[in-house]
Amino acid sequence: MSRSVVAAMTAYTLELREAEIKLNQNESPFDFPRALKERVLARMADRPWNLYPDFESTALRTAIAKAFRLAPENILVGNGSNELLAAAIGAFVGPGTPVIFPRPTFALYEKLVTIAGGLPIPIEFDPDSGLLPLEAMRSAIAKHQDCVAVVCSPNNPTGGVLPEGGVDALLESGAMVLCDEAYGDFAQTGVSAPQENLVTFRTFSKAWGLAALRVGWCASTAENCREIRKVKLPST
Ligand SMILES: Cc1ncc(COP(=O)(O)O)c(C=O)c1O
Repeated sequence: MSRSVVAAMTAYTLELREAEIKLNQNESPFDFPRALKERVLARMADRPWNLYPDFESTALRTAIAKAFRLAPENILVGNGSNELLAAAIGAFVGPGTPVIFPRPTFALYEKLVTIAGGLPIPIEFDPDSGLLPLEAMRSAIAKHQDCVAVVCSPNNPTGGVLPEGGVDALLESGAMVLCDEAYGDFAQTGVSAPQENLVTFRTFSKAWGLAALRVGWCASTAENCREIRKVKLPST
């Protein structure tokens, strides 16, 4: 028998339905250009397939770090940002940890928190407001010691964003903040400088149109990256 929290939940899945325009996974409607695919495939063919890849994904971490003026130690890459969200929640959420997040939001957070034994504290908000409920989150954080806040800005599925200075306001409240910027490229916000109570998540699945390749990354202090790395599976 699985653990009771697992037995009580359903798997993360989506109903596959024929549709003229498919919107339910926020994928790019445009496939990657054929010529570029062929260049990638040629490079893959030159690599040995019998050997495990670089454990630390050094080249990719270095390239991402350079693009965002960070150091490779501040970056982890994963099998989609999903893998890094799971690893970070595994690293920062334990039995009974209060986890504050707006709702509706990306359903995976609540699942991962529940699996970790954390206490999900959803903050309901008006999806039409265009904003995320910053003040309600800060009030909830003030009531719960040693809590974690998870925020997706721009938010899936409402598109709402944190107001200007929102990440700093959450950081000031003292929570460990996991900031999912899967759609950050659309909002054209930069990635915040590494801070000890902030982990920022990004992905190549959305604006870059590469969902099939499963490449995501997160940025934080070198210390936080080392901690998340302990929970993450090797070789991504
Ligand atoms: C808010 C959010 N975060 C993370 C992900 C996961 O993206 P990936 O694992 O493809 O990087 C998604 C995918 O839909 C998402 O909507």
